Amino acid sequence: MNAYEKTHLSMLRGHLAGCTVLLKKSGDFPLSAPGKIAAYGSGVRRTVKGGTGSGEVNSRFFTTVEEGLADAGFTVTTKKWLDGYDAIRRDAWKEFMKEIKARARKNHSNAMVEGMGAVMPEPEYDLPLDAEGDVAIYVLARISGEGSDRTDARGDIALSLTEIRDICVLAGQYEKFMLVVNAGGPVDLSPVLPVVKDILVLSQLGVETGAALADILLGKANPSGKLTTTWTSIAQACPVGEFGDRNDTRYNEGIYVGYRYYQTVDAPVMFPFGYGLSYTEFEMAPAGFSAEGETITVYTRVTNVGMRAGREVVQVYASMPAGTLPQPYQALAGFAKTSELAPGASEEVAVSFKLSNLASYDAARPGWVLEAGTAVIAAGACSACAKPVGKVVIPETISVLRTKNVFGQPDFEDWQPENPVTREIPDGVPAVTVTAADIPEQEVVYGEEPDIDPLVDTLSAEELAYLNIGAFNPKGGVASVIGSAAQSVPGAAGETTPMLKEKGVPTIVMADGPAGVRISKEYFVDKTGKRVGLGGGMPESIAAMLPKAAALFMNATAVKPGKGDPVCTQYCTAIPIGTAIAQSFDVDFAKLCGDIVGDEMTRFGIHFWLAPALNIHRNIKCGRNFEYFSEDPLVSGKMAAAITAGVQQHPGCGVTIKHYSANNQETNRYANNSLVSERAMREIYQRGFGICVREAKPLAVMTSYNLINGVHTSELRGQNEDILRAEFGFDGVVMTDWVIGGNYLVPNAKYPLPHPAKVADSGNDLFMPGSAANYKDMLDGLNKGYVTLHQLKINATRVVRMARRVNEEMEAAVIAADAAAAAGNEA
Ligand code: BGC
Repeated sequence: MNAYEKTHLSMLRGHLAGCTVLLKKSGDFPLSAPGKIAAYGSGVRRTVKGGTGSGEVNSRFFTTVEEGLADAGFTVTTKKWLDGYDAIRRDAWKEFMKEIKARARKNHSNAMVEGMGAVMPEPEYDLPLDAEGDVAIYVLARISGEGSDRTDARGDIALSLTEIRDICVLAGQYEKFMLVVNAGGPVDLSPVLPVVKDILVLSQLGVETGAALADILLGKANPSGKLTTTWTSIAQACPVGEFGDRNDTRYNEGIYVGYRYYQTVDAPVMFPFGYGLSYTEFEMAPAGFSAEGETITVYTRVTNVGMRAGREVVQVYASMPAGTLPQPYQALAGFAKTSELAPGASEEVAVSFKLSNLASYDAARPGWVLEAGTAVIAAGACSACAKPVGKVVIPETISVLRTKNVFGQPDFEDWQPENPVTREIPDGVPAVTVTAADIPEQEVVYGEEPDIDPLVDTLSAEELAYLNIGAFNPKGGVASVIGSAAQSVPGAAGETTPMLKEKGVPTIVMADGPAGVRISKEYFVDKTGKRVGLGGGMPESIAAMLPKAAALFMNATAVKPGKGDPVCTQYCTAIPIGTAIAQSFDVDFAKLCGDIVGDEMTRFGIHFWLAPALNIHRNIKCGRNFEYFSEDPLVSGKMAAAITAGVQQHPGCGVTIKHYSANNQETNRYANNSLVSERAMREIYQRGFGICVREAKPLAVMTSYNLINGVHTSELRGQNEDILRAEFGFDGVVMTDWVIGGNYLVPNAKYPLPHPAKVADSGNDLFMPGSAANYKDMLDGLNKGYVTLHQLKINATRVVRMARRVNEEMEAAVIAADAAAAAGNEA
């Protein structure tokens, strides 16, 4: 392993348990020493380190649970069971492939489109559960990914009958038993909850997923993560709001997403938002409540009253007064994690937030308001156990910011609870008053334009078209669906045009994430000096869907290194998935993840990382939820901001926050229309992006594939200019998600794919990844008046300035680092 890989793994290792969530505990764990362990379940040998698709990171290796246990000194006694399971799984996969191909034929589509991200449900089987040992674990694994959504089916969100039977048997048969969930999102555990006493959500933690579990079983590390999404059984799942229609999906639930729904209607759930136990116990006591202007601070004393060291999360919730706008029972206002507290130790934790950040969006008088009344502030270790610690009196309605509505109208009014549960206004807690004088109303200046760059002003329409799309292949053809369209770095997802290099405009190189940097592991340098990736840029999960003939063809035509062509490596670290990072509730850890990514970007010449991804967990079925953080926009925004800060502390490295916005399902992902109200858009689906932009200034934003109320987000000027740039203050580059081909990807589409010129007209600077057809369409659209030459110049100005900036900064940093290393060597 290279030194940087070792460094990155050691930076992560001590934090991984902080991303895991202990759902149930009996005191049987941790174990005092490794010994014989009967490890069952699909995730033991087929441990999932992250999901599939563009988020699949090509790390050099990763540790499965089986390997992690062995490395930690355990003797895994279930080899026979695991071999048996392997054989069953291989056969099931063959059948699954047949099904995908048959489905593709039926839908007049192709296996890659039908199968992308498709979840193979766990097969049913019968293997003896007779391995030796006093301790057993069952590792339940689930994988999902880009291109398909999860389903309620057995073996996906529901447990398979085999899993239910085996887990129940094992819980009774071994002296100590832990159920370990190696999934990127919720699984309906309700059938086994009554019998299993110890449950850990291991999640998917990248390279050292298996090692992290061994650390936890042995008490070398203590779980301290909290759920960032409510876990319900299938029967309990929120019945309001549509999901998964190919064409039009109505977000009827409005702002009542996740716990905002469950708590307002007092619906039972398996495990609430913010929930998570520890091997130790904590007590929390209110320690102060104050207001300075509109900044409210809640102080909480956290004491470790248990027997082991651990960390706890203080969560502060606000129940806002309902006026003309209905309000959820409560919403997260802030959070903070303690440092590691030894048994008996305590720490005072301060959580601060601005009251204006709790404002609601009033679409009737467009803008953000705090309606008059009393807000109750509660603090605790989860959403269900937070207790009132103070109240904020708002004597008169305060207008925080006047805006304009931009999203159009869906064909419904948002659902509202008939008898909403509200928090009683408590006596005996401190009260503060905040008035309009504390929050001066802000004005938004819409329509500001950058000065056109002098070079850009001299460019022809053709050259401007080049700059407004990614790096197309002048020979035409279909570019890669999931990026490997970059020309300079093998396996990188995309790049801006090289056509203006002679005029001094360098390219911006982009690589995927969010679970690390996704580029080819190996490449060779051919005779002409070109770097050619080995193994292709296609994620393995997608390559597996290729028809046999295509796979053979690709293999036969794949360029291979000639004799003497040097093979180089670019190993990157697979970090925990987005949901796991968020479960840590630790913004310093999120920043550290960004730091690792930024270091690897510099090493391999990547300017833009196509991450973090911060779409809302609107429905647990979304196939890409594992990449995203939470059902809560505050958690999403804070995590994205911290990761951004970590990446962008490396000169010339920028993040691309995605997918902007309301991209909450994978079914027909290229052309699905999300119907959403202006209020829900603002408070739920835009808010995290706003937090990240305001706090951390990401260099780039990627619009999403979907439409909102009939318009593609990439063509939505109200979003890309009015909200993003004018209201949030974004001053970087906006790009589309990877729009490829036409009917190829969207058979029988109701809505067309976005048009490059209309995209440019919305202030979206880059149509990615770029093709000869996009270039022609851009010029054609210019002739038809879809976009003005002036707008192309504005977009090109942003691209050119950014390209110069990131290249200059990165080059200077690399030269400085090389000089420092040389000086070190000499000394
Ligand atoms: C995905 C994006 C990704 C892009 C480039 C798209 O299919 O939706 O998240 O960044 O491909 O690989």
